[in-house]
Amino acid sequence: MNRARDGRAGSRARPLGRRAFLRRTAGGVIAAGTVLEACGGGDAAATSGTGAPGPGPPQEAGPLREVRRVAAPAEIDLGPLGTRTIWTYDGRYPGAEIRVREGDRLRAVVENGLPEGTTVHWHGIPVPNAMDGVPGVTQEPIPPGGTFAYEYTAGPAGTYLYHSHQGLQLDRGLLGPLVVEERSPHVAYDREYTLVLDDLLPGPPRPLAARGMGPMGPGGGGALGIPDYEAYLVNGRPPADPPALEVRSGERVRLRLVNPSGATAFHVAIAGHRMDVTHADGRPVDPVTVDALRIGMGERYDVVVAAEHPGAWAIRAAALHGGPEPAYAVLRYADAAAARPPDGQVPEGLRGGRLLQLDDLSAVEPLEPWSEPDRAFDLVLSGGMMSSAWTIDGRAYPDAEPLEIRAGELVRVRMRNASMGLHPMHLHGHFFRVGDVWKDTVNVPPGMSEVRFQFRADNPGRWFFHCHNVYHLEAGMARVVQYA
Ligand code: C2O
Ligand code: CU
Repeated sequence: MNRARDGRAGSRARPLGRRAFLRRTAGGVIAAGTVLEACGGGDAAATSGTGAPGPGPPQEAGPLREVRRVAAPAEIDLGPLGTRTIWTYDGRYPGAEIRVREGDRLRAVVENGLPEGTTVHWHGIPVPNAMDGVPGVTQEPIPPGGTFAYEYTAGPAGTYLYHSHQGLQLDRGLLGPLVVEERSPHVAYDREYTLVLDDLLPGPPRPLAARGMGPMGPGGGGALGIPDYEAYLVNGRPPADPPALEVRSGERVRLRLVNPSGATAFHVAIAGHRMDVTHADGRPVDPVTVDALRIGMGERYDVVVAAEHPGAWAIRAAALHGGPEPAYAVLRYADAAAARPPDGQVPEGLRGGRLLQLDDLSAVEPLEPWSEPDRAFDLVLSGGMMSSAWTIDGRAYPDAEPLEIRAGELVRVRMRNASMGLHPMHLHGHFFRVGDVWKDTVNVPPGMSEVRFQFRADNPGRWFFHCHNVYHLEAGMARVVQYA
């Protein structure tokens, strides 16, 4: 069956007519006085079990929204790249966007039509532990033919993703975006699109170790732990058949950038336009204007683009580690003379200009100060050298002790990267403070760099903490954070 048009339609978020109920200021930011009430930040102290500041799920339960996802193999049409049989949700790739309002009760019924077990993880949402979808940690895999109903309160508002957490299934196509809409956004926009950035393998994923470990060896992953991808895609489309984002002159366009890829961090820029970064991992930040940003696996950035330069412009996402042509989408004004930018148009931001830095970000929601933590972990991330393992403090999960914490503690985690690979480290069940922003995934760049974050232990259970390069994860770069 030809799924391509189907998949494409499903992957493009519908534009929302926002203008009607948003007040604009010169910078596009809604007056500060409304921010607390708008984003749940004001409620956060009340919603967190410890009374500490921070984003949390809303307390009052909204209406029940039910979605179904059937995980099953399907043939998808990748245009010029031909057709492929991959694993999908409902025969669509990426999986159709789940979109709910903040505070809605979300019931997601997952049916397993795969030949092996699976689970679904709701990446970034601080769900109750039993709903977190990590095989062997929070649930048994859903067996072939089986069904599991996940249910939780959707919140706080933000851009998230859902994906399989079983083995390497994420890199086989089992992923999709999840949007929890704000009741009152802190920035004004007229229209929005979700852009899912992904990397495409030529065949089913295999652990890198099984393919040999040459330093740059073909298919070996080498010192970076990244397989050889065939193409980079936006919303399931290859660069030869890019999705078009239709805009009108004068609009402010919100782009939700989501990176659920297996092992690719992207450098993203738009020709002829700057971006106001408004959210990091779904959390609202004071808008900062940049020419480009880097987005690691598991990260999300929302940006607002002022459509003030009519024409057709290239949106490009280049892999940090190189490889095939950058992922491609077109920002197309309704009155543009040409449907596509000139061939070979490269956004200025891929060559220079202001690149978003973590230090540029400052949270809208209140932050907890960097006071003396109740518990601290000092972790070394390594791998890619002498063995096929990727490790945290020399240990490869599951052969590694949990990191024990207690409810209510302020927990500090310091990570040092002793490898040549990039590690986007993701903590389940919590947002953490890194720099001056709330996030749930943070890049620890190669070259002995050091990153620290802290979080308040306010969501009891057993939570996975791991690198979001699915090959590093599979080769051991994970721990369980366990409440005593
Ligand atoms: Cu998106 Cu444990 O992952
Ligand atoms: Cu890693």
